[in-house]
Amino acid sequence: MGRRAAAIGPAVVGDQAPTLVLAALLHDIGYAPELAATGFHPLDGARFVRDEGRPDVASLIAHHTGARNEARLRGVAELDDEFPFEDSLIQRALTFCDLTTTPDGRPTNVSDRVVEIVRRYGDDHVVSQGVQAGLVEFLGIEREIDTILSGSPASIR
Ligand SMILES: [Fe+2]
Repeated sequence: MGRRAAAIGPAVVGDQAPTLVLAALLHDIGYAPELAATGFHPLDGARFVRDEGRPDVASLIAHHTGARNEARLRGVAELDDEFPFEDSLIQRALTFCDLTTTPDGRPTNVSDRVVEIVRRYGDDHVVSQGVQAGLVEFLGIEREIDTILSGSPASIR
C-alpha cells in the first residue's frame, strides 16, 4: 500500500504526497501488540503516531477506510473526540490506496476488496459491518480518484 501511495500521491495530493506515503506505511501500525491498548487498531495506531509528533498523519490513520463506521458500531467515541474527522482529499486518497491494494500488496478494486474483507472476517463481524456501512462512500472515492488519475500515465493507475 505504501507503493500505491507513492505512485498516485503526486498526481492526487501534490506536495502532500510524502504525508500520504507515511500514513500508508503506518496505517495499520495499531495492530502491533505493543500498541494495542484499546484493540481498535485505527485509534491505537493514531495515538502512537500523534504522540510521536505527527498529529497530521495520526488523523489520517485514525480515519482510514471508514474507521468511524466501525467505531460507531463498537461504541468507541474516543476516535472522533480525539481525532475529529476531516473529509479531505488526502484522507480519501489513503482510503483509496487501502481499498485498491490486496493484503499481500497486489492491485485490486474497491468492490473486490470489500468482498475479500467480508469473506475473511465473516458476515457478522464488526469489521465486515463497518466496511459494508462505508461501501457507497468508498465507491464514490474510487470514482473520484480514478477520475483524477485518468489524466495521468497508465503506469500509475
Ligand atoms: Fe486498517
